[in-house]
Amino acid sequence: MENAYKKSIIVTGGAGFIGSNLIETLIEENEIIVIDDLSNSAGDKFIKGFEKRDNFKLITNDINKAGAFDSIGKADLVIHFAANPEVSKGYENPDISFNDINGTKNVLKFLKEKEIKNMIFASSSVVYGEPESMPIKENQGPYKPISAYGAYKLASEGMITSYSHYYGIKAGIFRFANVVGKNQTHGVILDFINKLKINPKELTILGDGTQNKSYIHVSDCISAIMYLNEKIDKTEIINLGNIGTTSVLKIADTVKGKMGLKEVNYKMSDSKDGRGWKGDVKKIELDTSKAENLGWKNKYDSDEAVEKAVIEILTQTS
Ligand SMILES: NC(=O)c1ccc[n+]([C@@H]2O[C@H](COP(=O)([O-])OP(=O)(O)OC[C@H]3O[C@@H](n4cnc5c(N)ncnc54)[C@H](O)[C@@H]3O)[C@@H](O)[C@H]2O)c1
Repeated sequence: MENAYKKSIIVTGGAGFIGSNLIETLIEENEIIVIDDLSNSAGDKFIKGFEKRDNFKLITNDINKAGAFDSIGKADLVIHFAANPEVSKGYENPDISFNDINGTKNVLKFLKEKEIKNMIFASSSVVYGEPESMPIKENQGPYKPISAYGAYKLASEGMITSYSHYYGIKAGIFRFANVVGKNQTHGVILDFINKLKINPKELTILGDGTQNKSYIHVSDCISAIMYLNEKIDKTEIINLGNIGTTSVLKIADTVKGKMGLKEVNYKMSDSKDGRGWKGDVKKIELDTSKAENLGWKNKYDSDEAVEKAVIEILTQTS
């Protein structure tokens, strides 16, 4: 019998925040194989509902280890999400990012071996480091990441473009701003909600609260990568940001408001330069004209994305 599904898609890190949201939108029409070591804070909670479907398969493996893809056959598309997503871990343990580079290596070896010609990679705005002028375009170097996480993303991008040239792989490399929404496993919104649930009177904010970044709702992020991957006919690097930025203090106010709290004492964590952690980029604004020229437009701007995500996470964790 002919396969009824449009595509077979492998999603590394599919059990996590962005991956599980992505699978929700792809599962009806495609065959999905997730490879994930379930190291995120939610384990397999967000993909439990898919596990009984015959077009869904979970392989629990660490992709950074050799042989992780041995039991997997050819697919139409590989979406590479599996990695530590927390920039803040790099200072204490940069090895995490060295290991994640191995993950990208194993993904690329797999693509070459199985002659898979399309991949999507979740890169990040942190590859730019602290640019002198903003909003920043995709081709505006030099790239000087200030975190091991950023360096891992940049190294991966380079290996992907080289494999793309060598072996005729089309890669959609997307430099995400901060992605927010339901199923978050980490990040500032979840952190604030968790802290305020424990102590509704006081909130410790990492840094001085003036960090100002673009937030994109996960539904926009997912629609964008799938739409843009279809649009491009060769490997492209594309910023996925948003209109405007939202400060950490504004996020704190939004969380406080949506939780119905009146008096919360904001306590700024002790850092000399106002960063949340060593390697935190305090301000970043992406030029998104490349995505727009390809016909992409977000539904939610930065403030709206944050507000929607706060409501979604509160509903989910209540
Ligand atoms: N969330 C954001 O704001 C953001 C921004 C830029 C880029 N990204 C990138 O998007 C991707 C997905 O991030 P997310 O926010 O969904 O994080 P997440 O932690 O929720 O998802 C990542 C998933 O990968 C898995 N994983 C991690 N290391 C693995 C390994 N070695 N082998 C197998 N599985 C592994 C985890 O268990 C998790 O399920 C990551 O590559 C992240 O760096 C995220």
